[in-house]
Amino acid sequence: MDDLGQDSNDGKTPLRYESYLSLSKILTAQHLKSAEGGVTPIHDEHLFIITHQAFELWFKQMLYEIDSARTIFNTDYLEERNMLVVISRMNRVVEIIKLLNSQFLILETMTSQDFFDFRDVLESGSGFQSLQFRLLENRLGLRAESRIRHNGENYIEAFTLDEQNVLYQSEKDKSLFDLVNSWLERTPGLEPGGFDFFTKFKFSVEAMLNEAEAFAQEKEDPLVRERELRENDKSKATFNTIFDEHSHDQLVKKGERRFSLKAIRGALMIFLYRDEPRFHLPFQLLQCLMDIDECLNKLRYGHACMVQRMIGSKIGSGESSGFQYLRSTCSERYKIFRDLMSLSSFLVPRDRIPPLNNLMKRSLSVNDWTTEFEMKVPVQPDADSGVLSSVSRMLRRVSSSSQGTSEDFISSYRRAGKPESTV
Ligand code: HEM
Repeated sequence: MDDLGQDSNDGKTPLRYESYLSLSKILTAQHLKSAEGGVTPIHDEHLFIITHQAFELWFKQMLYEIDSARTIFNTDYLEERNMLVVISRMNRVVEIIKLLNSQFLILETMTSQDFFDFRDVLESGSGFQSLQFRLLENRLGLRAESRIRHNGENYIEAFTLDEQNVLYQSEKDKSLFDLVNSWLERTPGLEPGGFDFFTKFKFSVEAMLNEAEAFAQEKEDPLVRERELRENDKSKATFNTIFDEHSHDQLVKKGERRFSLKAIRGALMIFLYRDEPRFHLPFQLLQCLMDIDECLNKLRYGHACMVQRMIGSKIGSGESSGFQYLRSTCSERYKIFRDLMSLSSFLVPRDRIPPLNNLMKRSLSVNDWTTEFEMKVPVQPDADSGVLSSVSRMLRRVSSSSQGTSEDFISSYRRAGKPESTV
């Protein structure tokens, strides 16, 4: 902040540290309720207020980062350079949540007795009324039906009418989850008329499972045979949830899966081919989303443990069962991107991963492949090089259009009547 002492834009008033940061507002916003009526304030209430305010400021920063990622994602075509921006911002969110978790340690320097000295002044005020925390959950994509109800009430009822409107709107808006789902559905290589990853993958997995079954059948020991066959049947049932639309839909109905089948297949492709340069960043992003879920879960748990220490089994100021309620929110149903965690169930040995054909290999190998390839492909009007010239024309179209993806390229290549080459 070296330049804080320099002139501000209007050239008259020198910009000062204090005014730039609105410190007069922030630093005078700690009103100790225990000091009301001119009595001696309870010392630790100050720490209690400062900690909550610090959390709220960090909630604000996280919302800012998540909203920017939602804006970047809210398009039919995500430019790769923007992907790096999204990853660094989502990574920032992860670090903020980790920091918040360690802030509970500072609050825990207050003993439960110290807390009880001022707990009554909080009346019905509770973290349950934190608008920003609810917005954070909704913007990430937590669904209303996944929430644990406390005292049979919808979480929205804890808010004023104006706040409720903001929350209803945030439930309707596209969440980060929705946008990531659409983005994954567009993963290049999924299209049935192109590389058709999934048909190839299914074929390879079925062969692997059939071989494993035949191998198990040959086991002499009936106990071993039975166990291996059972294991194999379990694997078949697991894979079936991504092979068969009906099985997938059943899981969605039960609330055990959330991404669309196409998005799951896209994510699986990114996991399997993550060594290919164009999948490096998407793979990192998926890791980051899992980190957000995991860290948020730890934050919920850290808060629940601290609450148990502070109030034991007493009810909360928001009239929930306190620790019991908070503990129940540390569960799978609050994990927004848990489908990504389940992807490990569908990983196969490297030699079972369908090899990429030349076209896919090339399209996943460099970020600016369209320009590079275009430079090497001259427009040839003669009949012999008809395919090449139509490829070249399409490349020009694709690279001059902001909507151009390798997916566009593959499908337009096929429309030109030439099947893609295979390895
Ligand atoms: C002495 C420290 C604290 C105690 C005893 C405490 C207690 C509680 C309790 C009992 C609840 C459940 C709702 C209720 O019945 O009130 C709750 C919810 C909540 N608290 Fe705290 N809290 C403490 C510190 C904090 C801090 C520092 C934050 C940071 C903003 C915070 C944020 C929240 C949030 C967001 C919820 C809603 C959680 C949910 O419904 O999933 N709390 N707290």
